[in-house]
Amino acid sequence: MDKSQAIQRHTLEHEFQELTTNVRSLKLGDMDNLVYLIEEPDTGCAAVLDPAWDVEAILDAAGDTVITDILISHWHDDHLNGVEELVAATGAPVHLLDSEAAFWEVDKDYFVRHADGECIALGGVGIQVLHTPGHSPGSACFNVNGKLFTGGTMFIYGCGRCDMPGGDAIALYHSLNRLTKMFPPETLVYPGHDYARKQVSTLGEQIRLNPFLHQPSAEAFAAFRAAHDEHRQPPYQPVLRGDPVW
Ligand SMILES: [Fe+2]
Repeated sequence: MDKSQAIQRHTLEHEFQELTTNVRSLKLGDMDNLVYLIEEPDTGCAAVLDPAWDVEAILDAAGDTVITDILISHWHDDHLNGVEELVAATGAPVHLLDSEAAFWEVDKDYFVRHADGECIALGGVGIQVLHTPGHSPGSACFNVNGKLFTGGTMFIYGCGRCDMPGGDAIALYHSLNRLTKMFPPETLVYPGHDYARKQVSTLGEQIRLNPFLHQPSAEAFAAFRAAHDEHRQPPYQPVLRGDPVW
């Protein structure tokens, strides 16, 4: 598929359905990255989120499923160092937010650059791209029928750091608040790193037990985020509101 076809496919009006998607995670590399295969069984196509570290393993996991799309949560090497190889193997377009591509001054023929709220068609399923800045200026989360892929924005009992280029703790506070208000508590959360003792949670559990969601103001959040950049080590533990975190 060439770039104009890819863009056309993703800007058409689609009647998205509540189809089931199967999600498989691969824990790859030495930074506990979680790479996801999001499969739409009715059409046998799949999207790969944040291809990195071991493209052969990703292709093996896909098997006969056709990888039609590649999604990027943010432009950090540990989430994308397999992109070129996976594009070469599949010819799939790479979806990311326009603001992320602009910040890092990257552009590739295979990019499909999105704005907040746009939908990517994966067979009959819509993958909604949400702009959740903070960990990086154009960080994205992806909503697939009640499954929320949070990249570097939210981890289980944690969240992304804000001390790298383009990081902004005030923006991350508002992004996390947006997610907790936008989706119901039963929404499944699939983070971009395996930093807890489990890989999947619900938004409701995160609201109760993620200390980064307990902060009363943007300023308090920024101070809390900075204080935990250096010394909070995985596995992250659940924290009741008001309890200390170490
Ligand atoms: Fe990151």
